[in-house]
Amino acid sequence: MKKKITATASKSVTKSVTKPKNKTAAMHTPSIRTFNVHGSHNTQSWEFSNHLVPPMTASTTFRLQSLQRGAEGFQLFADPQNYANPIWIYDRLEEPSSKMLEEQLAKMECGEVAVSFSSGMGAISASFLAFLKTGDHILSHKTLYGCTYSLITSWLPRFGITHSLVDVNDVTAKDLKNKKVKVVYFESVANPSLQIIDIDRIATLVKQENKTRTEENQIKIIVDNTFATPWGLRPLEHGAHIVIQSLTKNIAGFGTEMGGALITSKKFLTALLMIRKDVGAIMHPHSAWNIMIYGIPSQVLRFEAQQRNALLISQYLEKNKLVEKVSYPGLKSFPQFDLAKKLLKSPNGEFAPGTMLTFILKGSTTKTETFINHIAKNGYSITLAVSLGLIKTLIEVPGLMTHAAVPKADQEKSGIPAKLIRLSVGIEDPADIIADLEQAFKKI
Ligand SMILES: Cc1ncc(COP(=O)(O)O)c(C=O)c1O
Repeated sequence: MKKKITATASKSVTKSVTKPKNKTAAMHTPSIRTFNVHGSHNTQSWEFSNHLVPPMTASTTFRLQSLQRGAEGFQLFADPQNYANPIWIYDRLEEPSSKMLEEQLAKMECGEVAVSFSSGMGAISASFLAFLKTGDHILSHKTLYGCTYSLITSWLPRFGITHSLVDVNDVTAKDLKNKKVKVVYFESVANPSLQIIDIDRIATLVKQENKTRTEENQIKIIVDNTFATPWGLRPLEHGAHIVIQSLTKNIAGFGTEMGGALITSKKFLTALLMIRKDVGAIMHPHSAWNIMIYGIPSQVLRFEAQQRNALLISQYLEKNKLVEKVSYPGLKSFPQFDLAKKLLKSPNGEFAPGTMLTFILKGSTTKTETFINHIAKNGYSITLAVSLGLIKTLIEVPGLMTHAAVPKADQEKSGIPAKLIRLSVGIEDPADIIADLEQAFKKI
């Protein structure tokens, strides 16, 4: 068994095992929905001859047959030419379970490669460390997940990396002329405002500006696609350079695993593997395996069920007289409904407005507090908890919880009004979710 784990051994086994499957694949390319269930048949990461489900790997270090092979492993590490057939050395460099997961994530996001991390924040930090240095400037959207906001505004300045927080939909060609700007950063669907960024527009501007810059000084568009998920939007197809997923959310889906990933083209692979090796924010193989075996194969089913519920609940809230405002990209009243229809699409071309919605209650903040506390104490289908995209419906108040790092004085202009309630809709019977809301409405 031990022998099969090495690159050479798995190579010889895989050859004989996967040939007929490759033949089938050549005749018919499966859709992404099917690929998510079966993964790569011809991966070099393990042999598939005896397993319906790939085995879970756990070894932190790997047997090397000779010193020459050990040296070769270090020499070839992070070489894109060697991407499909790595020499396993040590978990922090690369290991089979997360490698198989990465192959699937790359396909889902329409990228060439993916690099996994221990959390979404691990992935975001690595993308900044890899592509920014002292003196550089990050042009970021003003509404960001709270920890991303604090990473950009509290930590990056300590390394001489400056930032501006703007509405990326208003960025002009002139804004990109500042040669210090090296990264344009945003969430495709912003957390929590749900504002959608017109990726095509910003990508056209960046492409134009990059024509005037050397390879080393190119601006990179880094997009956090966690809210949309790859089923709802694939930013690389729209001109983004690097995509982030917090796998902790809809991709893992059940609230049991943490993880993050950067999905991109081969030309950025070396930098990302190198930074992960040295920073060490690697995903545990156990988490990688769970996400690969349970999360990804069920993601589309869960996403579609959650999305159906999200539309029903947002329509229910829209009719409720105690509600001041509801935001859901699938509602005609959503201010960017046309942009949502243009960008948020499944690989089949169906409208995919997602699983997240927000609402604001009429009246004082005390009413909001009473409403939320009632759900926290009495709700069955809805839980007061952070995180999102899970099978269980979660409610929270971003200004006081996930986005507490954004100073109170800046929250309103950052798209986080104090009374904003965020609902991550799960797969429960929608009538039960509504019943919990209904009970809480009776208390205010
Ligand atoms: C949009 C977005 N990006 C990134 C993250 C960070 O992910 P993680 O919690 O896996 O580090 C979160 C967490 O809530 C998020 O909402």
